[in-house]
Amino acid sequence: MLPILPLPTDDEAELLRQDKSTPLPAHPSTHLPLHPSPQGHCYAWVVTLKQPMHRLLTGPLTVKRVTVPIRDLPEWLQGCRIVQLSDFHFDGLRLSPWLLQAVLEKTQALAPDLIALTGDFVTKDPAPIFALAGQLKALKSRYGTFAVLGNHDTLSLRGRRTIIQALTAAGVSVLWNETAYPFGPEFPLVGLADFWSGEFAPQKVLDDLSPNLPRLVLSHNPDTAVPLQRWRVDLQLSGHTHGGQVVLPGLGPLVSIVQQPRFRQLRQALPFYRKKCDRIVHHWEWASGLHQVGESWLYVNQGLGTYLPGRLFCPPELTELTLTRQEPLQG
Ligand SMILES: [Fe+2]
Repeated sequence: MLPILPLPTDDEAELLRQDKSTPLPAHPSTHLPLHPSPQGHCYAWVVTLKQPMHRLLTGPLTVKRVTVPIRDLPEWLQGCRIVQLSDFHFDGLRLSPWLLQAVLEKTQALAPDLIALTGDFVTKDPAPIFALAGQLKALKSRYGTFAVLGNHDTLSLRGRRTIIQALTAAGVSVLWNETAYPFGPEFPLVGLADFWSGEFAPQKVLDDLSPNLPRLVLSHNPDTAVPLQRWRVDLQLSGHTHGGQVVLPGLGPLVSIVQQPRFRQLRQALPFYRKKCDRIVHHWEWASGLHQVGESWLYVNQGLGTYLPGRLFCPPELTELTLTRQEPLQG
């Protein structure tokens, strides 16, 4: 099946035209690439011709189910289910159409109460957001779809605005240092600006919340769990790490192992690991899964998009989180 990315509508094209960092689709006669550059054309055809290769590099979608105890969770939210999706990197190369389709179908089959999207919708060029938002529009849940942006969504101010507008038009509520109350006033949902955007400002929102209120926080980069220790954060949902993509069972992500000084020579021999990958995140010990950080729970989703050299023991992930009341300690 061809990975057809629809061309932007006139309104969308105008938004892109205002964004000087965003090239417009080059030729209306082809529906394939949204990227006018030779590299962009190449991306689309790589996906078209190399579907089996893409499947081999990423592996099948995995559904992870996690139950998280929340102190003071309102009774009516006992058993509330949240589906988290992260790091789409929808750019014609890093997320295949078959995987996106599987993600959308599985999310709908789970009939979640709320859907949380934790950033990196695109990789660099914001133009594909219109096609992705068009697909995300189909997602339905009881309390709605909420999102924060990742570092790849905030490479330019205009690109960021374009992404927010496209998602908002698709019915996704994008939170940028904002609080929403989809569950009601007793369980706020906070969405933070990306850690690297220069606008990460948890104090703006968390200072206003009563410490007696439990809350859910969306924050793309899991390193933010450290500065967030200043406030009550019952559950933080993050992405960004892609789980490290290549994981050595029992040892952890290869990217963190080869950063150790004693593996310097090995790093030089591995083409995708020569760069300072430790800059991606400091806390590789939180690369994926559920972690307790102080009194907070942190869940890190492995993401959906895939960079080269691919994934090993770290498949693309859809997370279903079930919230349960944590009974108060006696005595
Ligand atoms: Fe990412």
